Amino acid sequence: MKESLHNLRNEALALIQEARDIKEINSLKISFLGRKGKLNEYTKKFSELKKEEKIELGQLINELKKAIEGALRRKERSLKSDQPKKTDWFDFTLPGKRPEQGHLHLVSQAIAEISDIFEKIGFVRVRYPQVEWDWYAFEALNMPKNHPARDEWETLFIKAPPHKKYGQMVLTPQTSSGQIREMERLKKPPIKMINIAKCHRRQQDITHTIMFHQFEGLLIDKNISIANLKGVLDYFAKSFYGPERKTRLRPFHFNFTEPSFEVDINCPFCLGKGCRTCKSGWHELGGAGMVHPNVLKASGFDSKKYNGFAFGFGVERTFMMRSGIKIDDLRLFYSNDLRFLWQF
Ligand code: PHE
Repeated sequence: MKESLHNLRNEALALIQEARDIKEINSLKISFLGRKGKLNEYTKKFSELKKEEKIELGQLINELKKAIEGALRRKERSLKSDQPKKTDWFDFTLPGKRPEQGHLHLVSQAIAEISDIFEKIGFVRVRYPQVEWDWYAFEALNMPKNHPARDEWETLFIKAPPHKKYGQMVLTPQTSSGQIREMERLKKPPIKMINIAKCHRRQQDITHTIMFHQFEGLLIDKNISIANLKGVLDYFAKSFYGPERKTRLRPFHFNFTEPSFEVDINCPFCLGKGCRTCKSGWHELGGAGMVHPNVLKASGFDSKKYNGFAFGFGVERTFMMRSGIKIDDLRLFYSNDLRFLWQF
């Protein structure tokens, strides 16, 4: 008897689920729960049963009754709410809802713009690996074995057996390794490279993210001077930031350039005079310099015949410096917060 009650339950729930209107619901109500309904047929059999059986069956019938009533009620409610009410109306002149449209991430937008600016003056866009050998990242860039950049706290090393010739594997800490790779690829000047790629360093705070992007310019030819470097940097500053902007070179030190500079851009508000936002009139953009003869030699170039310049800036930083854009926390670039990304 238990089994046939179980079957009855399945049958009832399936039929209720399939009911298409209130009329069907009402007739199902009668056929299952009515005085002459299917459930009552079981109650009639009560007299034939023993006492314990009566209790058990009574409970089962009660539960089934509740289940059927509940299902009928839910179905009735959903059928009623599906039906258009007389007061409902549809304004077909309303504009439709547009599907939301995405856009490129602001870093991708900045990369596209930066590539465009340099391609206009003949630089060739390349992208060198995110994972590098010690040789390209440090050694060929004239950085001695004990240079602090090789410190575990600066560079992320990869657990892999070192290469016989190229040494340890690292996550590329700066796009300067692209200088060596580009000279190896082209074998002879002229070289005009713009390498834009991901870099990794072991720092994470409001002005650093563990992954960031740099763009690295390299120009190698005969008789290249600091004036050429300054011209290219000013061209970039005016194209990216506006015609009233210019750059300034400050003496600095990098192992792979001699002389080396830090490149500053004049403040958008006071244009270099000094104001409340900038204090000194200038903001630091990145590094640059004349390629060190040892770097040319490491790439197989005759350092007596050829020379050139290089510069490397952070993409996120360069983008942030654009007037009117003030991003307090660099980590927002990669937090995937749509409220931030929608603004660009
Ligand atoms: N690689 C340097 C940095 O990450 C920048 C730089 C590039 C300096 C090229 C000089 C020449 O800080």
